[in-house]
Amino acid sequence: MAHHADIDPLSGVETTGHEWDGLQELNNPLPKWWLYVFFATVAWALVYWVLYPAWPLGSFHTKGLLGWTARSQIESDLAAGHQAQAKYLDRIAAATVEQIHDDPDLLNFALAGGRSAFAVNCTPCHGAGGQGNPNFPILADDKWLWGGTLSDIYQTIQHGIRAADDDTHMSQMPRFGADGVLKPNEINDVAEYVLSFTKKSTDAAAAGRGAQIFADNCAACHGDHGQGSLEVGAPALNDGIWQYGGDKSTIVQTVTYARQGVMPNWSKRLDDATIKQLAVYVHELGGGK
Ligand code: HEC
Ligand code: HEC
Repeated sequence: MAHHADIDPLSGVETTGHEWDGLQELNNPLPKWWLYVFFATVAWALVYWVLYPAWPLGSFHTKGLLGWTARSQIESDLAAGHQAQAKYLDRIAAATVEQIHDDPDLLNFALAGGRSAFAVNCTPCHGAGGQGNPNFPILADDKWLWGGTLSDIYQTIQHGIRAADDDTHMSQMPRFGADGVLKPNEINDVAEYVLSFTKKSTDAAAAGRGAQIFADNCAACHGDHGQGSLEVGAPALNDGIWQYGGDKSTIVQTVTYARQGVMPNWSKRLDDATIKQLAVYVHELGGGK
């Protein structure tokens, strides 16, 4: 820039020599505060540049003296998280499901952990939040096949139902039709009787004949009034809740072939602390006993 040491007569300040339509630019110094901030940012940038990864050099970059990387940051965050969890997980592993349930701290932790373990392992069969699916029981109600206390649920999740496990829940409804125990007309009649528990029977005569068939063949497991039995995991037939379906043809199908649903034994796949958290979570879902 050409420099003319011209002085503006009005302000007495030197001008830069730039002029637009008779207006001249004054050469005032930069404000002090602005300069200091500017120098501070330069100093900050230099320090940052030396300490942190900064300068791209083709396929790599300067690493910085601190050795910081976004990856190592995440790893140490995760490690800190695991450590915070380990404290709880150790206590959960050492406690009974009842003790976990009665300790507000552990209960909160277990409900959160149980919820996420449930979403990963259980929703494919039991539905989100345990709301059930055709062929798979609802866990979010207070009707239980094998018992709804904390320790019942813990036991069920550990060892499964009809699973390959020495301590699994075991019972087998007979294949009344397929194995020729009952004739098709008898199955029709007992199905009508089952429907009469929920006032859905449309054939009173058949339901009447079915009552004796039920007493002889079914009541041992399902109870005199179809109330079910936790002992053998026989569902109640009088509560309007159906795992396989409560229409006539589905009931005929169930009595003809039986179902023998299988619930995996999770002690083979999940650690004990996770199973305990699941038990507490499922218990809470279902308004457990
Ligand atoms: C492959 C499908 C499947 C998966 C996955 C599964 N379950 Fe089940 N579960 C079943 C079936 C089928 C039954 C009912 C068995 C029967 O007829 O008695 C059942 C029954 C249960 C019961 C007994 C309910 C009662 O009323 O007594 C509990 C508790 C349970 N499951 C919890 C779980 C949990 C927790 C998980 C995840 C860790 C899980 N299940 C994953 C299929 C599954
Ligand atoms: C040995 C015990 C036993 C006997 C006897 C038995 N059941 Fe069952 N029943 C069960 C069990 C256990 C289930 C659970 C389903 C499974 O096998 O997975 C079941 C399920 C059912 C279901 C399905 C319920 C649903 O929610 O979908 C119906 C319906 C049923 N039984 C009707 C009968 C009738 C009718 C008889 C007599 C002709 C009978 N059962 C005899 C044990 C028995």
